[in-house]
Amino acid sequence: MKNSAISERKNQSISRGVGMTTQIYADRAENSEIWDVEGRRYIDFSSGIAVVNTGHRHPKVIEAVKSQLDRFTHTCHQVVPYESYVRLAERLNGMLPGKFDKKTVFVTTGAEAVENAVKIARNATGRQAVIAFSGGFHGRTFMGMALTGKVVPYKVGFGAMPADVFHAPFPVALHGVSVADSLAALDKLFKADVDPARVAAIIVEPVQGEGGFYEAPRDFMTALRKTCDQHGILLVADEVQTGFARTGKMFAMEHHDVAPDLTTMAKSLAGGFPLSAVTGRAEIMDAPGPGGLGGTYGGSPIGVAAAHAVLDVIEEEKLCERANALGARLKQRLASIREDVPEIVDIRGPGFMNAVEFNDVNKGLPSAELANAVRLKALDRGLILLTCGVYSNVIRFLSPITIQDGVMTEALDILETSIREARAA
Ligand SMILES: Cc1ncc(COP(=O)(O)O)c(C=O)c1O
Repeated sequence: MKNSAISERKNQSISRGVGMTTQIYADRAENSEIWDVEGRRYIDFSSGIAVVNTGHRHPKVIEAVKSQLDRFTHTCHQVVPYESYVRLAERLNGMLPGKFDKKTVFVTTGAEAVENAVKIARNATGRQAVIAFSGGFHGRTFMGMALTGKVVPYKVGFGAMPADVFHAPFPVALHGVSVADSLAALDKLFKADVDPARVAAIIVEPVQGEGGFYEAPRDFMTALRKTCDQHGILLVADEVQTGFARTGKMFAMEHHDVAPDLTTMAKSLAGGFPLSAVTGRAEIMDAPGPGGLGGTYGGSPIGVAAAHAVLDVIEEEKLCERANALGARLKQRLASIREDVPEIVDIRGPGFMNAVEFNDVNKGLPSAELANAVRLKALDRGLILLTCGVYSNVIRFLSPITIQDGVMTEALDILETSIREARAA
């Protein structure tokens, strides 16, 4: 089978709305490597967009799923519940930041977790409005889309968004928005657009994912918590991309001094099996009446079994520590490349949630072209990279945290060659 032949069939059969970063069709995958249908091997620095933090087909995850397949695959937790769902909720309730009683609901995708967090926040507060941040990404459902702070391609042509969603600028010093600017804009929003007494929630990614891997400064998060407390607003941390050891802590909010009221999780929670969750203050989570939350596939027993194994693996293999070590190695290599590559304007990110940002040195403007050229050169050499950012000039690194040391070295070498070649072109 040829990638090009499948690609042609894809063009005839799949909506072009599903954008694709590569046209290499997967045949099999193992830890940090993927082989395509033509037998070519790639190093995977995408992890299916931050999903397989524990690597493709981690033996423990596969074993847990196989053993669940042999018992039952679906009963719908709302009809015939199962203990593993309860136990996973207990585990997450015990792990999330915040010294208060917590409860959890499981659904299926990141966007669905966000939808449910907003539903819960509205129900608990009796308020309607929600504030999100420019550059933020929260999914492709209607509320997810409305909350997302990037128009093209996420919102364009999709008509009216749900009402009462507002955006404030996310602080990115590199792009001239300080914490003070961001907080002043929030204050102005309260004066010009929405009475804070009508705001149910402020939703924020502790490190913006699709938006460019910008970390929320600690004083910003502390100020948001204070604003929320002052006005009775709930703080929602969207940890869909940041969760599960990626930032060197189990959750990115552990880098902060304050805790959110609600947290959304998905992606690497179940290491490649669809599962998402909302965890938060018990009394808030209990606001919606029975039947108000859930879904046919919510908390699938397969996803739940995988998630238990993922949490075990993160602990047993000390993946938070490993994320810090791998991230340090990556950032060190990028710093050495930067010495004679002035197009690199920033290297950043906590743990192993790292990114490099490119500018056109002559224009002093973000260079999406260079970021994309690096990505394509790397792909040619067998390394899968992803770009991101409001200006699409950022390369984000999302390799499995279980990547073998030798494969990591190989990837860093390909990255360096690709940056140098793309720049010279
Ligand atoms: C922070 C964040 N929230 C929500 C989502 C949406 O998740 P999903 O694609 O599983 O619906 C994403 C996906 O990238 C995300 O990064």
